[in-house]
Parts: sequence; C-alpha cells; structure tokens
Amino acid sequence: MKSLVITDNFTEANVEALAVTVFKGEKASGGVLKELDKLTGGILASVFKNEEFKGESGETALLRFAAKGKNKADKLLLVGAGDQDEFKMPDVSIVSGTATRFLKKRNVKSFALMPRTQGDAVEAAQCAVQGVITSQFELDKYKSKRENAPKPLETFGLFIEGASKSDVENGMKRGEAVGESMNFTRDLANEPPNILHPTEMAKRAQTMAKEVGLKCEILDEKQMEKLGMGSLLSVSLGSEQPAKLIILKYEPKKSTGKKGELLALVGKGITFDTGGISLKPGEGMDAMKYDMSGGATVLGTMRAIGQLKPSVPVLGIVAAVENMPDGKATRPSDVVTASNGKTIEILNTDAEGRLILADAVAHAERLGATRIVDMATLTGAVIIALGDINTGIMGNDQGLVDEIIACGKEAGENFWQLPLGKEYSKQIKSDIADIKNIGPARKAGTIMGAVFIEEFVDKAKWAHLDIAGTAWDDGVKPFRSKGPTAVAVRTLLKLVEKAQ
Ligand code: BES
Ligand code: ZN
Ligand code: ZN
Repeated sequence: MKSLVITDNFTEANVEALAVTVFKGEKASGGVLKELDKLTGGILASVFKNEEFKGESGETALLRFAAKGKNKADKLLLVGAGDQDEFKMPDVSIVSGTATRFLKKRNVKSFALMPRTQGDAVEAAQCAVQGVITSQFELDKYKSKRENAPKPLETFGLFIEGASKSDVENGMKRGEAVGESMNFTRDLANEPPNILHPTEMAKRAQTMAKEVGLKCEILDEKQMEKLGMGSLLSVSLGSEQPAKLIILKYEPKKSTGKKGELLALVGKGITFDTGGISLKPGEGMDAMKYDMSGGATVLGTMRAIGQLKPSVPVLGIVAAVENMPDGKATRPSDVVTASNGKTIEILNTDAEGRLILADAVAHAERLGATRIVDMATLTGAVIIALGDINTGIMGNDQGLVDEIIACGKEAGENFWQLPLGKEYSKQIKSDIADIKNIGPARKAGTIMGAVFIEEFVDKAKWAHLDIAGTAWDDGVKPFRSKGPTAVAVRTLLKLVEKAQ
C-alpha cells in the first residue's frame, strides 16, 4: 500500500469511496449518516427505511452518491457491525478488513473509513490499519500468473471523530507494525515445507531480526547436543534437514517492568510433520506444513515487538525441526534424555511437538525466563474439543492463564482453559523411564500434551496454548482470506504491553 493518511473531513476525503460502520437498526437521522444521506440525495435513508440494509454484522452494501456535492468520492460502502453496545475495539479491524476486501474486489484503489468507535483513538486507529493490512493477505504467492488478482489498494484514509492527529498517527503506525507482523506469521505458516525447512526458517528469523533490531542466535545440532537436548534432537533424526533452535531477544533501552522478570515466548516449529515412524495417514497429511505455526507466531510477535519497542525485555524461542521417517529415525519405544535430565520413553513419534518443546521451554528458563508462554499446533484432540473457535489454554499459574484470557478478550481472540493436575500428570508416568510422550489412548489428548511440557518447567510461571484448531481457517471470511490466521499474535502483544 502506498499511503496511509489521516482524513480531516470525512465526507470530502479525496478518495474513490467512503466506508462507514452502520449499527443494527440505525436511521439516517443524525450525525454522519444524515450528512451522507444528503449526499446520496436521500437514498441512504430509504435503504434503511425499506430494510434493504439492516446493519447486521458482516453485511455490506455499496451505494452511489448523487452527481454533485462537496464529496469527491462517488461510492459509499456501508459496513454492518451489529449491536452498537456490543461493538468492541477488535471489531474495528473486522470492519476495516471487510471494507478493504469488498472494495478491492471492485478495483477501488483508494477509500476512507469512519469506524465510529467510542474508545481510545490510538487503539481504534491501530485496529483499523491492522485490519486493512491483514485483509489483503492472499494465498497466491506461488501462482505464476495472478490474472484475477485485484489491483493493490493504494490509499487508505482514516477518520476518527474527535481524535487528535498525533493519536491517530501513532495508532496507524502501530497498526502497520501489527498487521505486517501478522502477515509475516501467515506467510511462514503458508510456505511449502520443501521451501521452509528448519534452516530456512532460521534464516528468515535472522533477516527479520536484523530489520527490526532484535538479537538473534541460531543453535545448530552440535550446540544442542552439548546442551543435552536429546528430546528435541530425537525428532530430527529421521530428517535430512538439521534442526535449529532460534533464539531472539528484545531488550529495551530502559526497562520499566518488574526487576528480574523475563517473559519468554516459545513456539513449536515443526516445518513438516509426517508423524515419523508412527506415520500419519496420507489423506490430509499436506496440512502438516502448518505444524510450525506456533514458531511462526513467536517470530511474528517478536517482529512486532521489535517495531513497537515496549519497555520490557522479551525472549523468543523457536524449535525448528522436521519430523520424517527414515532408517535413522526414532522408533516407538526408544528412550531419550532431555536437557533437564529427565528420561522419556517415546511411544509415539507423532507426538513430537511436546518433545521439541520440552528442551525449548527448559532452555528459556535457563536463559532467565520467569514467565513462559508456549504455543503449538500440538494435538488433534483440541480441534475435537474446541473446534476452530477457541484456542486451548492450560498452565501452572492461574494468574498468568487469566491474564492471557483477558488479553485475548481485548484482542478479539478466544481462549478456553482446560484443567491440569496430578491425576493427569500420573498418566504419563513410564514403566521404564521417567515419563512417556503419550497418555492413555483417546483420553484428554490435549491435556496429556500440556502435562508433558509442564515436566520441563522448573520455577517459571507457564502457560501453554494449543493452537491446532485456530491457526488455520479452512473458510474465507469477509475480512480475511482462508488459510493461516496468525492467531495469538495480538493477544501476546497485549500481554507484553501490560508487563510494562
Ligand atoms: N501436529 C500434530 C497435531 C495436529 C493434528 C495438528 C491434526 C493439527 C491437526 C501433532 O504432532 C500430533 O500428531 N499429535 C498427535 C498426538 C498423539 C499421537 C498423542 C495427535 O493429536 O493425534
Ligand atoms: Zn505429530
Ligand atoms: Zn506435530
């Protein structure tokens, strides 16, 4: 996009179309709707009166302005937003994204939006711009001809009633950072696994780190061996692609957070999950290219942190590994030792995410983390339990879990907590080693993954996000293409913001 501009006078903005939020049951009897109605020569009021447009959430209607007026735009887009009482900040990005996709499809290259929120102007501007940017992400990267692709949007103008110029400007800049970082996450998740193997994922992290000013260290297999990461390394034995541990560090110039506190974000970066020797069925296996979504979320969040520059340090760790079957691959019944000394009986090589997270989480604590949030497309069971609506959340500290759920509410992302506890932890005790990597068949599969990772957390407060159901959306939404969602990026950014 060429330019993001602040619009001073909405109805006179120098763009092709004006887009405005309309709530359920609204009439054109006052405020901006009355003004717009005049410019349409009364058509807007009649559209409302005849209930051709009811303001339901997701509804859109395109009208034309009468030939002459103060307006420069010739189109008016109504974007329905449901009940005004229920309209929250994250809904602004849905409205802006919906408007962007609708207008782009009709070759409109410039439009101005009046989101009509009541809340904080910085936040509103951030949400609006983020929605404009994330709504334009498409899956067509590898098409040699993009014949039917809409022309890129050139100008987005934003009008927020009563807001100061500096607030809107600040919010727009933040929205750009968040939106582009979410698209960075989505691009990684969408990459084919022959292109995005662990080495490539590490390279992308390195390049990104340089761009936004993060420290970046990549550990290779030799270095991981020295650290005793036998659990992580057992997963990559069957692959030609060597595993990488990506370590990113953001350090503020001046820290305002609690002394000694360090938040670590840890992600599962399985660039492809065949299941290993416990091979997955062929049907649907292609989906397993997104098994690095947790890692991609960490990288996207760290990218945004590098740009937004909060006043607290954040550590980002991604275990990038490919899970393949081969003569050298781990067998079900092998025993390995993790970096914290615990021994693991591997009974299913398809439960590999927890094996790599074990060493990654332990490493985060070794590097000083006092709060750890790990994220992973860890279990099919979480999709059965929560579908693609809620991310499963579990943890050893209710305060941290509650905080993430609350941040999720503010960011428009849903989390649902599942329980942990001794009775569950007992179920992964092994007959011959300390623990095994699976629990009883078909019982509490998501929790079994979590209690396994918990074994590798020592003193830190820890939460685990199972994003298997929410990291990929099979359907297209009015505000988003189908595919990777960048779930949790916005929630984690809120968590970082609140630690300041
Ligand atoms: N990557 C999968 C989890 C997954 C499955 C994500 C389906 C998305 C869709 C993970 O590595 C896995 O295979 N988990 C197993 C664990 C089982 C063997 C205990 C699963 O969920 O079936
Ligand atoms: Zn697996
Ligand atoms: Zn997996």
